[in-house]
Amino acid sequence: MTDRYAVIGHPVAHSKSPLIHAEFARQTGEDIAYAAILAPLDGFREAVFAFRDGGGRGLNVTLPFKHEAWNLVDRHDDYALDATAVNTIKFEGRLSIGFNTDGIGLMRDIRDNLGCQIKGAKVLLMGAGGATYGVMGPLLREQPGRLVVANRTLDKATKLVEHFQAFQGTTIRSLSAGPYDMLEGVDFNIVINATSAGLAGIMPPLPRHIFAPGALAYEMVYGTETPFMKFAGDCGARVADGLGMLVEQAAESFFIWRGVRPKETAPVISMLRRKAEG
Ligand code: ATR
Repeated sequence: MTDRYAVIGHPVAHSKSPLIHAEFARQTGEDIAYAAILAPLDGFREAVFAFRDGGGRGLNVTLPFKHEAWNLVDRHDDYALDATAVNTIKFEGRLSIGFNTDGIGLMRDIRDNLGCQIKGAKVLLMGAGGATYGVMGPLLREQPGRLVVANRTLDKATKLVEHFQAFQGTTIRSLSAGPYDMLEGVDFNIVINATSAGLAGIMPPLPRHIFAPGALAYEMVYGTETPFMKFAGDCGARVADGLGMLVEQAAESFFIWRGVRPKETAPVISMLRRKAEG
């Protein structure tokens, strides 16, 4: 019998997840159907349980419900637990288990697809909202030489760093928080934009020297060239958007649900890019 999965969000019509998972199912021969569910803003819980009770096997959770999903599930994997956000739910009967594959997706894209070494690198992560919480655990696990979280509201970055220090149970000396004006005179090998500024057509105030020679500028937003991407390109950095992360986080969800890893993510990324450009 065909197993049913879906992405749930508000809005959700723009989601590329049905296309991605259909492609993964084709590659692996897994018999799944994957839909999109628009949940009312005040009706997430009901929509999740209705899907489960109708025989659904798993959900991807997108904005604005990732934290609500964290509160709703019966169990969490480690990354979901410390991210305080869930983007993947697996149902085992009535039991719901929450995962967060966003950070794993970002690491696979940077490390494997873009061939950029994270271990020992100087990494700047901009933003201290949900997107940053989602990727911190897997990023720390890669052991960057230095990880600075910069945010417009310093207090939020400080809280975030304290949260992850506490979760790791040890002081990570290489991890710090700071405001943007602290970035004068320093450079980084990897600069990741996890703010929502790009969606509003603006960028955090970065100095031009922020990119070390050969640096990667990674924008977690996809589908448009943000001011950060343009700035980074003008500064000579290598630039990537978040499309690869999107496909890689989906591949990890697929693996969690099916126990089978999609064979190839690169053609799926290329297919989505062609569709976006065409
Ligand atoms: P999400 O959960 O999607 O990450 P969020 O919690 O609203 O969304 O966080 C958005 C992040 O983008 C925050 O870090 C925000 O900075 P503040 O904490 O100071 O609000 C950051 N952000 C949004 N617009 C920005 C801008 N114009 N310049 C710099 N940072 C910005």
